[in-house]
Amino acid sequence: MRTIKHTISYTEFDSAAELDSTDRKLLEAATEAAANAYAPYSGFSVGAALLLESGTIVRGANVENAAFPSGICAERSAIAAAVSNYPGDKPRIIAIAAFTGDGMTAEPVTPCGNCRQVIGEEEIKSQSRIRIILGGKNKVILIEGIDNLLPLQFSKNNLSINLP
Ligand code: THU
Repeated sequence: MRTIKHTISYTEFDSAAELDSTDRKLLEAATEAAANAYAPYSGFSVGAALLLESGTIVRGANVENAAFPSGICAERSAIAAAVSNYPGDKPRIIAIAAFTGDGMTAEPVTPCGNCRQVIGEEEIKSQSRIRIILGGKNKVILIEGIDNLLPLQFSKNNLSINLP
């Protein structure tokens, strides 16, 4: 028997002003993207912006549905748009910001489990880490790679088939 310990790490900033300009601009793009959210059921508008290797920024927003499980989060909207429109262009950084009637959330919103899994798939596909930037009014969090959000992720290695 043995106990395995995983350590996760991330960086906190007091505000977006402390980010480098690429990360700050991406967080601004996520903020803009949230304006396009369709979130009549939760009133919680989320925007995501994905920076691709080519420099292209792909935006996504949450799109809800009266059949609640049919809705999609902002992160997966952005990733689906990137994969659909820019195949092969590796995702490097994703920024996320969420808004209620009071403006941006005070604390950064962390991606749900489904979105973590999908970000993880992109890392495996591109064989490189994705930086995750989470915006909040009181704090900004920077995470270097999905391992820090989803240790022991399910992946193609768990399937008994050989994929590239
Ligand atoms: N949501 C996102 O778009 N991203 C997250 O990281 C957390 C949750 C959406 C899903 C739903 O439309 C609303 O926020 C409330 O859960």
